Amino acid sequence: MRLITDPAAVRPTLNAAPERPPCKAVLMADPAHFRVESAINPWMADASGRLNVVDQPRARAQWNALKVAYETLGVKVEVIQGKPGLPDFCFCANQAVTFRDAAGKPAAILSHMRSETRAPEVPVFEAWYRDHGYALHRLPPDVKPFEGTGDAIWHHGRRVIWGGVGPRTGKDAWDHVARITGAPVIPLTLVDPRYYHLDTALAVLNRGTALYIPGAFDDASRDRLRRGFDDLIALSDTDAANFACNAHCPDDRNVLLHEGSQATVSALVRRGFGVIELDTGEFMKSGGSVFCLKQELV
Ligand code: ARG
Repeated sequence: MRLITDPAAVRPTLNAAPERPPCKAVLMADPAHFRVESAINPWMADASGRLNVVDQPRARAQWNALKVAYETLGVKVEVIQGKPGLPDFCFCANQAVTFRDAAGKPAAILSHMRSETRAPEVPVFEAWYRDHGYALHRLPPDVKPFEGTGDAIWHHGRRVIWGGVGPRTGKDAWDHVARITGAPVIPLTLVDPRYYHLDTALAVLNRGTALYIPGAFDDASRDRLRRGFDDLIALSDTDAANFACNAHCPDDRNVLLHEGSQATVSALVRRGFGVIELDTGEFMKSGGSVFCLKQELV
């Protein structure tokens, strides 16, 4: 399958792609062992290098509230248990990307994590996916890094992937992802170290609408995004830094996001979206929010 870099090919590719159903179930990873133990992205320490300190009971309460929010929307939530010594395990978007293969069977491509501290998370997820009937795929060993749904974001309604190229996923991963999934990949280059995964800079809300951080992308990528979405909502710097782009819209109608992004919330309400604001402050101390705390189950 193909990598789509020509902006003129973006719209025809989306129009021609097979349909893809909305999200009915998610996997969440229990935050029992969630900590900030080293700074592997710019959000995890202050300017002097002092690591953020996670308030465990608060993190647990915030995670529970997110789980309840999904269940209230009718999205089924499965839970995977972590282990001591895996401080980022709860960010379960990152260890794989899930999809349905040509035969309609659930499948996942396992990640090659950028950091040593996160690599041991992958076998734990591998076992869970295997036990739950997922066919597992791997990239060639020298193709790294690749951080799953942190950088591989499915378009809504269509079998097409938006693929982040940046600190956590290299350009060479996308040919393999396109071949394995059978879906075209539209690469997007990330240029701001604060927005290190595509899911921190782009939130697909429905077939034609997305939130994005214009300054997080290079010109060619912004052009591809403009061709792909009729309504591309640019975030202010304030809402960008408040993780508004790490939102998730499971059903094309209701958007879950970290609380307090007023301009973004108004933009969503004006367009008729339901908005569910949640406190994910403890997880933002590690550089993540709603979107990366779940994996879509197919
Ligand atoms: N501390 C984690 C890391 O840097 C946060 C991951 C957040 N995930 C995401 N998809 N944005 O890897």
